[in-house]
Amino acid sequence: MFSKAYSAVINGINGLIVSVEADVSDGLPLFDMVGLLNSEVKEARERVRIALKNSGYKLPPKRITVNLSPADIRKEGTVFDLPVAIAILTAFGYILEENIKTTLIIGELSLNGRVQKVNGVLPLVYAARQAGFSRCIVPKDNAREGAVVSGIMTYGVSSLKEAVELLNDIDGKQPDIVDVARLFNEPISEHDVDFSEVAGQYTVKRAIEIAVSGMHNILMIGPPGSGKTMLARRIPTIMPELSFEESMEISKIYSIAGLLDNRALITRRPFRSPHHSITCTALVGGGIIPKPGEISLAHLGVLFLDELPEFNKNTIEVLRQPLEEKSVTISRLNATIRYPAGFMLVASMNPCSCGYFPDRNKCNCSIPMVKRYLGKISKPLLDRFDICIEAMQIDYKELQKKSKNETSKVIRERIYRARQMQTERYRNQDIWFNSQLTPGNIRKYCKLESKEQALLEQAFTRMNLSVRAYHRILMVARTIADLDMSDRITTKHISEAVCYRSIDCKYWGEI
Ligand SMILES: Nc1ncnc2c1ncn2[C@@H]1O[C@H](COP(=O)(O)OP(=O)(O)OP(=O)(O)O)[C@@H](O)[C@H]1O
Ligand SMILES: [Mg+2]
Ligand SMILES: [Zn+2]
Repeated sequence: MFSKAYSAVINGINGLIVSVEADVSDGLPLFDMVGLLNSEVKEARERVRIALKNSGYKLPPKRITVNLSPADIRKEGTVFDLPVAIAILTAFGYILEENIKTTLIIGELSLNGRVQKVNGVLPLVYAARQAGFSRCIVPKDNAREGAVVSGIMTYGVSSLKEAVELLNDIDGKQPDIVDVARLFNEPISEHDVDFSEVAGQYTVKRAIEIAVSGMHNILMIGPPGSGKTMLARRIPTIMPELSFEESMEISKIYSIAGLLDNRALITRRPFRSPHHSITCTALVGGGIIPKPGEISLAHLGVLFLDELPEFNKNTIEVLRQPLEEKSVTISRLNATIRYPAGFMLVASMNPCSCGYFPDRNKCNCSIPMVKRYLGKISKPLLDRFDICIEAMQIDYKELQKKSKNETSKVIRERIYRARQMQTERYRNQDIWFNSQLTPGNIRKYCKLESKEQALLEQAFTRMNLSVRAYHRILMVARTIADLDMSDRITTKHISEAVCYRSIDCKYWGEI
C-alpha cells in the first residue's frame, strides 16, 4: 500500500513543494522516515506515531516507510507532521488517495492529535497556488493568512481527526474566507502621533521629507532632548500607504518570522526600532532554523537605530552589505538563503558621550574622547547615510509659538507627488526610488548641465568626497528636484544635497 501527499517547505521567503510518500508493507513493525532530515523531522516520527494513536487510529503492526522528496533540500520545521500522518492514513485506507492529490497539507501535531500553528503559512500557500494545487489544509490558527491568497481554497483544521473528516468530505465543507479588499481598504485610523506636535526643527523636518521621498538613509545628530527620537517616531505618518503587492511581500516575511499573529496581512509600513543590545543574528537574520531579522522585518519601511554608537560596532558594520544590496544573504551548511531588506535606515546619535559637543559651555569631553565616541561609527557606514542632519536644541520662543505646524498629512501629500515622479521615470524597471539608482543609472537620470557640474566638482574637491558620497549627493539632488516637480537638477538642488553631506564632514572631518 502506497500513498503520496504534498506539503511545502520555506526556502528564503518562498515555498518549495515537498512530496510525502508513505509505503506500508508486511514485515517487522517499523516506522522509518527518510530524505535529508534534520533532527526536528526525526522527532516528527514520534509525534506522528503518538498523535495517530491518541486520535483513535489503531494501525495494524506493519512496516511503514515515509520518504520526503526532493532529497536535496533541507526540510526544517514542524510543518510535515500533519502531511506525514495523512499520507500514512491514506496508505492504510482511511482516506481516498483521490482526495489528497491536489491538496497541500501543512501543520504540526501535538501528542494529543491537535494541529498546532506553524510559521510561514502565507508563502507556503502562495507556492501551492503557483504549483497549481486547488486547496490547502493548514492549522486553524493560520487559516486567515492562508486565505488571503486568491485562486486556492484554504481550510483551517484544529485536529488530525478534523483533517481526515475534511478530506473525506471536502465538497461538503466551506473554505475559510478573508475579505482582502475590505481588509486592505479599511481606512487606516489616523496615527496617534503627528509631525505637527514637533515645534521648530524645520531643517530636520525638511531633511526627513527628502529622505522619505527617495528612501534615503538619514542620520540625525544632536544634543539630548532636541527631539531626534520624537521626529523619527513620526516618520511612518508621512510614508505613502502600502500597495497590495508590497503588503503581500512584507506579510510573507512576517509569516515566516511567526509575527503575523491573527492579522491576515500587514497593511501598514513597518517601523522597526530594535534596542541597542540586539544581537547580530536578531538584526540581520539567521539562526539554526533561519528567520528574518529586523532588517527584513523593516523591508519597505523604516529601520530606526536610536543612539547608534551604543550598538555593538560589529553588529552595525554587518549592515553595510544589506544596505547596498537591499537584501541579505545568509550562508548555511549546504545552502544560502536570501531575505529582502529594502529598508530606509534612520539613525540618531549624540555627538559625544555627554551629548553636547561642540557646545563648550556644556561639554567637557576632551577631543580624544569625542573622537573615540564618533569613531564608533566607521567611515564606510557613515558614507551610506545619504543625508546627515543636525538637530539643534530649540529655544523657548520656538516652543511657545502659536502658529500651527504642518501636519503629517500635508507633508505626506508632497512626498506622494515626489514618489509619483519616480514611479513614472523608472516605469518598467526594477527601480522605485532614487536611492536605488546604480552608478550607470545615475549617469542616465541625474544629468547635470555645466553650471551644476562645476558646483559639484568644487564640492567634491573641497570636501574630499568618496565616489560613493559623490553618487549619493546626486541621488539626493534628484529627489530634491522631484519634490520641486522639476525634471532638471539645478544648482539649488545640488547645493541643498551637498549641505546634507557637510554635516558629517563637520563632525568626522574636523577631529
Ligand atoms: N521640537 C520639539 N517639539 C516639541 N517637543 C519636543 C521637541 N524636542 C523635544 N521635545 C520634547 O522633549 C522630549 C525628548 O525628546 P527626544 O527624546 O526626542 O530627544 P532626543 O533628541 O531623542 O534626545 P536624546 O539624545 O537624549 O535621546 C520629547 O518627548 C518631547 O516631549
Ligand atoms: Mg533619543
Ligand atoms: Zn561632551
